[in-house]
Amino acid sequence: MRKTALFYTSFIFLVIIGLVVAVDLTNSQSQRRFGRNLQVLTEVQSKEQLQKIMEGIADALGVKCNYCHDVNNYASDVKETKKKARVMLKMVMTINRDFINWEGAEVVDCYTCHRGQTKPQIKGALK
Ligand code: HEC
Ligand code: HEC
Repeated sequence: MRKTALFYTSFIFLVIIGLVVAVDLTNSQSQRRFGRNLQVLTEVQSKEQLQKIMEGIADALGVKCNYCHDVNNYASDVKETKKKARVMLKMVMTINRDFINWEGAEVVDCYTCHRGQTKPQIKGALK
């Protein structure tokens, strides 16, 4: 009797552990499906949200996806432009978090400087 009870308890325990592991795997797989190499946009919740951000970035610079990406492997970091864009993302997030953060303030985004070009115009105001 005692042995059977112990067997059932262990069995139920294993089933619960199995379920926890399965749920965890599903979560990390859905994470990986839309972003295997997201180092800055870590808060992005879905494939659709990432797609919207990427279209916004491309539009702000006046380029297509292949300006930054090997379109056969979006996670790859072979292009210098992608690495620069990652630095730019960090810069913009820092500006909005630490500098332009008073109530009612507009945010800075890629278009603020780029205006549809890869090289923003410089006027030399600080020289
Ligand atoms: C100006 C450069 C730039 C352009 C243009 C651009 N991307 Fe990206 N993309 C990035 C950067 C940088 C990351 C990585 C962000 C990070 O590390 O959080 C990224 C990440 C991604 C990822 C995630 C890849 C992975 O698995 O980690 C996908 C998918 C993606 N971009 C799709 C697109 C699509 C589709 C377009 C065109 C509509 C596009 N991107 C245009 C810079 C760009
Ligand atoms: C404060 C102004 C500013 C903002 C905001 C900004 N950039 Fe830039 N970006 C620059 C400047 C200046 C350069 C240098 C251009 C040059 O090489 O002469 C540059 C260069 C780049 C380059 C390299 C271009 C090349 O061909 O080498 C990429 C890619 C880029 N920015 C992406 C972005 C993305 C994506 C965002 C939004 C997340 C962004 N930038 C926001 C000012 C800005």
